Amino acid sequence: MLRVGPSIMAADLLHLGDQIRMIERGRADWLHVDVMDGYFVPGFSFGASIVTKLHHFSKLPIEVHLMSSRPLEHMDEFFAANCHLLTVHVEAATDLYRCISMMKRHNVRAGVALNPSTPLSVLDEILPELDQVVIMTIPPGSIGMPLIDSCLAKAGKLVQMLRRMKLHHVQVIVDGGVKIQNIADIAALGIDGVVSGSGIFAQPDPAVAIQEMKQIASRFDVTH
Ligand code: DX5
Ligand code: ZN
Repeated sequence: MLRVGPSIMAADLLHLGDQIRMIERGRADWLHVDVMDGYFVPGFSFGASIVTKLHHFSKLPIEVHLMSSRPLEHMDEFFAANCHLLTVHVEAATDLYRCISMMKRHNVRAGVALNPSTPLSVLDEILPELDQVVIMTIPPGSIGMPLIDSCLAKAGKLVQMLRRMKLHHVQVIVDGGVKIQNIADIAALGIDGVVSGSGIFAQPDPAVAIQEMKQIASRFDVTH
């Protein structure tokens, strides 16, 4: 079953509470919170305080997508805010192993994200330690851009690689440009989950958008 994590950066922030109730109704699997530091990516977005507030408002697991050039300096704030999963960028983490160890020590699931031009080979030494790999299918920091096909192919390659290595605990997630219109292509590759911003919140009913994505993806469900 394809898991769907709406990116709240694309929500109507003046009505965030209502928007979250909508995606809960649509059976979203988790909340994706994009944290942008103005260095790793242009622009700023949320900090740890929104994670604390969301945590009190919704029972959905919260993933922090830390688009920061200094992840080690910021991770503690998000542990304190009780995020369930933290995703750091491999391009930014000077000591990825240490980042992952810190997440484990705090009982936070460990994710690593790869920018569009980053090859899968950077994961060679760390793959078994991870709970999730996020393949960026748009340049990080952007929103509402078309999915890059070659990045989706990279995600499919990772799914195959993990199957060959019998690393069934590592989830493959794609983030960026995911819409109802391309969900079949994504599900056909055996991807575990998608992050979608405008593909959900720019739809007339975000709950229906999530349900449609899951329904289309369910045609590709197989037991391995
Ligand atoms: C990109 C963020 C994404 C973004 C996705 O910088 O990591 O999570 O919100 O937005 P869409 O789905 O509209 O491409
Ligand atoms: Zn994201």
